Amino acid sequence: INVALIFGGKSGEHEVSLASASSIYQFIDKQKYNVFTIGITKEGNWLYYEGDVENIKNGDWEKLSNRNVNINLIPTANKNIGIEFEDNRFEKIDVLFPVLHGPFGEDGSIQGLFEISNIPYVGCGVLSSSVGMDKLICKKVFEQEGLPQVKYTYTTKWDFNKNKDKVLDEIEQKISYPIFIKPANLGSSVGISKAKNREELENGINEALKYDKRVILEEGINAREVEVSVLGNEEVCASVAGEIIPSKEFYDYEAKYLNESSKLIIPAKIDDEMMNKIKNMAIKAFKSIDASGLSRVDFFIEKDTNKIYVNEINTMPGFTNISMYPKLWEATGISYTHLIDKLINLAIK
Ligand code: DAL
Ligand code: MG
Repeated sequence: INVALIFGGKSGEHEVSLASASSIYQFIDKQKYNVFTIGITKEGNWLYYEGDVENIKNGDWEKLSNRNVNINLIPTANKNIGIEFEDNRFEKIDVLFPVLHGPFGEDGSIQGLFEISNIPYVGCGVLSSSVGMDKLICKKVFEQEGLPQVKYTYTTKWDFNKNKDKVLDEIEQKISYPIFIKPANLGSSVGISKAKNREELENGINEALKYDKRVILEEGINAREVEVSVLGNEEVCASVAGEIIPSKEFYDYEAKYLNESSKLIIPAKIDDEMMNKIKNMAIKAFKSIDASGLSRVDFFIEKDTNKIYVNEINTMPGFTNISMYPKLWEATGISYTHLIDKLINLAIK
């Protein structure tokens, strides 16, 4: 079976993707799968790379890529879909495995291209990817499904610039400090800040508006962060929950994915009842956006009240062999190599 592993991408999570892809390349069952590695540069250029997996992780793949190889994904009259080498050798792609996080890779854009290419692909489809990536739309879907969430509101660039004081008043009426400010559409904590007063709120919104024209405001709670891995298409399973102990005041992009100082506690130290409740909520969240393949659902457990809130769903969670998503499956009885195999099977069946 020919697998095209696609990594990198134009998003701010490019480096996380390189790390995820090199792990997958290293651990995928090579008896069963021929892997073709295709990188997307930060500028959005697709390049064929063949060689040492270390060079994927450290970024050298880009200069070592073979620029004479054509990657054809759009059907045309004179070209077949697949990989065309300089010596005219041609490889059909049986399944695409996009290990891309954030905008363009996890938001339905590339999934749309894959639909057009008519090749099966690992993970969520167009709709679930785009709903999962858009924090605001996703919150509205979760709300509709009765999934508990922390208090939130939102504003837009247009409203904020037109009548700043009125918008700030309204936010302060609806939710209390501390307030987390997030662009509606970016993954991995980019553009996120925490405000303890009106001045910080205004600055935070201005900062978040650099990344998106819609900004979400969430009431900060004193909470533990717990995550669950979900796997399946129609028949959906949830892993045990794991807890993250962040290394900084709040979980920023660097603490979360780049340095390894955040601690994962697997399984999370919660009682069986809460564990089951969280697992069921994870499956409900997965189904509510019509997800398929995989997703990681992130929760808060409020420290004072033990109340559970759904935070977000990640349709392409970090996927290195030490990332939360595979680690949770490992603790549930599915090894990393087997997990990769299962995901490919879910894509092609
Ligand atoms: N967005 C990152 C990769 C995650 O949620 O794991
Ligand atoms: Mg995310």
